[in-house]
Amino acid sequence: MTRTPVRPFRSREWFAAPGRADMAALYLERFMNYGITPAELTSGKPIIGIAQSGSDIAPCNRIHLETVKRAREGILAAGGIPMEFPLHPIFENCRRPTAALDRNLAYLGLVEILNGYPIDAVILTTGCDKTTPSSLMAASTVDIPAIVLSGGPMLDGWHEGELVGSGTVIWRSRRKMAAGEIDEAEFLRRAMESAPSSGHCNTMGTASTMNSMAEGLGMSLPGCAMIPAPYRERGQIAYETGRRIVEMAYEDLRPSKILTKQSFLNAIKLLTAIGGSTNAQPHLNAMAAHAGITITPEDWQTGYDLPLIVNMQPAGQYLSERFHRAGGIPAVLKLLVDAGILDGSVATCTGRTMAENVAEARVLDADVIFPIDKPLMEKAGFLVLTGNLFDMAIMKTSVISEQFRARYLSTPGQEGVFEVRAVVFDGSDDYHHRINDPALAIDDNCILVIRGAGVLGWPGSAEVVNMQPPDALLQKGIQSLPTLGDGRQSGTSDSPSILNASPESAAGGGLSWLRTGDVIRIDLNQGRVDALVEADEIARRKGEPAPPIPPSNTPWEELYREKSGQLHEGGVLEFATKYRGTGLKVPRH
Ligand code: FES
Ligand code: MG
Repeated sequence: MTRTPVRPFRSREWFAAPGRADMAALYLERFMNYGITPAELTSGKPIIGIAQSGSDIAPCNRIHLETVKRAREGILAAGGIPMEFPLHPIFENCRRPTAALDRNLAYLGLVEILNGYPIDAVILTTGCDKTTPSSLMAASTVDIPAIVLSGGPMLDGWHEGELVGSGTVIWRSRRKMAAGEIDEAEFLRRAMESAPSSGHCNTMGTASTMNSMAEGLGMSLPGCAMIPAPYRERGQIAYETGRRIVEMAYEDLRPSKILTKQSFLNAIKLLTAIGGSTNAQPHLNAMAAHAGITITPEDWQTGYDLPLIVNMQPAGQYLSERFHRAGGIPAVLKLLVDAGILDGSVATCTGRTMAENVAEARVLDADVIFPIDKPLMEKAGFLVLTGNLFDMAIMKTSVISEQFRARYLSTPGQEGVFEVRAVVFDGSDDYHHRINDPALAIDDNCILVIRGAGVLGWPGSAEVVNMQPPDALLQKGIQSLPTLGDGRQSGTSDSPSILNASPESAAGGGLSWLRTGDVIRIDLNQGRVDALVEADEIARRKGEPAPPIPPSNTPWEELYREKSGQLHEGGVLEFATKYRGTGLKVPRH
């Protein structure tokens, strides 16, 4: 059967090179050296790129060394030609000073590869936190047909009969160790057992969240996000993804036809239902910015009023393997579409609408996926905050503990309003050096504030805002204090921090003039956070030297700082968002 693509394949410009037999010969010859035949490359079949995000230093995504084998078979079976190439590695836990630096770097690299080589469509292999947004950002810039193949989470972790989830177990064990309940050896055992197999974090941390967002945006096959990495279904969906991207190449089904304002609003709502990571806020804003779509604080607020229905750590109890068996993202999408919360008419990579994709999905475990009218929690989204310290910050309300609610949010007649004394740290070294200093006299009337942790300050914006109280308070049973910062925190954290405060201190935001001892009034009803400092005093402090930040240590750090915007706009390379559809033009010889 001869098929005609809706748009001529761009790879023809290389391998058929009209009028330039010399160039075609040059382009063709070197692919021979690993066994591709000229007949294949000149057959008119689409060349399908596979952006390989896994490696030994990207262990969360290393399963893709296997999944791509099945993806290649799917591509071949459907009449395409696979060509695998590396994506700049991004490993959340290990990269210093922070993996956030690499999101924009991997983005830049992928754009150049997709533009500069004879690639007609691409499989984006994703897993660890930022591999999903960087890949989708690039897909929008280039705008050739693209599909996400998630690597999947690890199996559920168990320690002495108790579920232990990635990251979350670290934060919880850290508190237990400071309170003297466990020793270092026990800490390490609990951490090891949270990681029982290949795959990415098994909590609803940033990795599970962003792969769920890709599925919710319609950019991966239904069910793709939550299949555990070692399951046989992972290989099967890799094969189906390979088959499907070939069809998408023929159909010219490009990201710009799928990623719309409506699909991003759907993603924000899905995020609340699953109890997703606070990192989704900058990442969704970044993906939208590269798709030419603006997401406002008001758009974020539309997610706040919705319920949490997925019972997964850190907001709930279970981990991703169990969530997958409960029906995963398709079951959640089905509930949200049926309730009229999501727009089911949006286009997806299957060529069908979201509603059509999930028509048969069902909830198979009522302990894990709750009904919308009997949720785990009402009004469980991100509260969008503003005030004299920043234009925008968020608070993840689904992780507010009973203890925190009782202490800070339940003053009769003043529910949701509290005042606290600021203790300000300049970066995480300062926090670690001073948090147990008795001179700070930290008690439960304090808020721990960290600055110098944003896009410019760190650089990259670090996951440090979920600061734990001094050991002395933990030993008294005080599990958490209010925290505030211009950095981020791990999606696996159960801290109800006020975070992603933007603009950051290093960009002259309000945290730059805050001083230890200032009183901060937090009004969750009005969505306000204000330091109770007089205007003339604020003006005076603005004349003082800015808080210190470290110098750039690499060329990329310097360039990143020069070109990246603030977190409330996604922290993207701002000049880059004007480039869209670059792959529709073919570069010169
Ligand atoms: Fe890579 Fe969590 S550290 S997925
Ligand atoms: Mg993280």
